[in-house]
Amino acid sequence: MKIADLKPKVLEILQQPELPINHKMQAVCDLLQSNVDTYDWVGFYMAHETEPTLHLWNQAGEPTDHTVIPFGKGICGQVAVSNKNFVVDDVHAQDNYIACSIHVKSEVVIPMFKDGKNIGQIDIDSNTPNAFNEEDERFLEWVNELVAAQL
Ligand code: SME
Repeated sequence: MKIADLKPKVLEILQQPELPINHKMQAVCDLLQSNVDTYDWVGFYMAHETEPTLHLWNQAGEPTDHTVIPFGKGICGQVAVSNKNFVVDDVHAQDNYIACSIHVKSEVVIPMFKDGKNIGQIDIDSNTPNAFNEEDERFLEWVNELVAAQL
């Protein structure tokens, strides 16, 4: 499915007044993972309120052992510190990388902000190299803004 077609479906999920935000975030992961060919794993890692760690709240795709990631470790941990999008065209070229599956070739991590604070991120793994472009970045920033507004 194209991103333009996915946007109304994301809105449909997030605009359900009776659904708790955690369920909405899970539904967004499921939607993206099952409708975008190159999105093989989709998850939200959220920062602990006081500790410098990220915690996996939701995921769609193969289960991962990496449910807690310290700030600074891996692509996710680096984004927790840098506050910047991280697009990895080839995960094998990265020194500071945590492998969740041997099949993964590329990854994108987009930070989520609330009141200017980096509160977590959306992380997407792809089994295709170079799977992510600026359109993905803008789309995922948009998803994160909508989610953050409900947290
Ligand atoms: N690859 C990530 C770890 C999370 S898994 O992709 C699910 C990283 O290097 O931080």
